[in-house]
Amino acid sequence: MATNEKREVKRGIWSRRDFFGRLGWAGFGVFSLVSLFGFMRSAFPRVLFKPPSTFKAGFPSDYTVGEVSEKFKKDYRVWIVREEAGFYAVFAKCTHLGCTPRWLAAESKFKCPCHGSGFFKSGLNFEGPAPRPLDRFEIALAEDGQLIVDKAREFRMGPIGEPDEQHPNSILKV
Ligand code: FES
Repeated sequence: MATNEKREVKRGIWSRRDFFGRLGWAGFGVFSLVSLFGFMRSAFPRVLFKPPSTFKAGFPSDYTVGEVSEKFKKDYRVWIVREEAGFYAVFAKCTHLGCTPRWLAAESKFKCPCHGSGFFKSGLNFEGPAPRPLDRFEIALAEDGQLIVDKAREFRMGPIGEPDEQHPNSILKV
């Protein structure tokens, strides 16, 4: 009778030894998988692919004096303005809460659709809640003679003063 009972205990689903054995293998399996994942992950380093900060904006002769070009607004959020004094690149981002203003050629002003801020062609704010003029980006001449705008080099405008006076270097004299 006692022998039969012993046999039944062995026939049970898992003995304690089996249980710890399997637990050990499961732990080893998980560890191996995590290590393998880590190894695979190291083959693909985390790199942020940012779009280049510069773009070419054509030749100076492509622009007429007095023009506000919207050619690069959609892709780069930049207006290129040509005046007698030279070129400047205006960041199409309202200095109130960041909406994208529109250029209203008939009224010769930038108008923000969100809360009504208005800016002169120079970017100077004159109506609405925007606290300062529109910012500008550096614009220069590339070796091939084209205009090149660098969005990594920003001329941030303060609340007081004409943009041209705050940042004379933001104007490319050609
Ligand atoms: S975001 Fe332009 S006026 Fe408010």
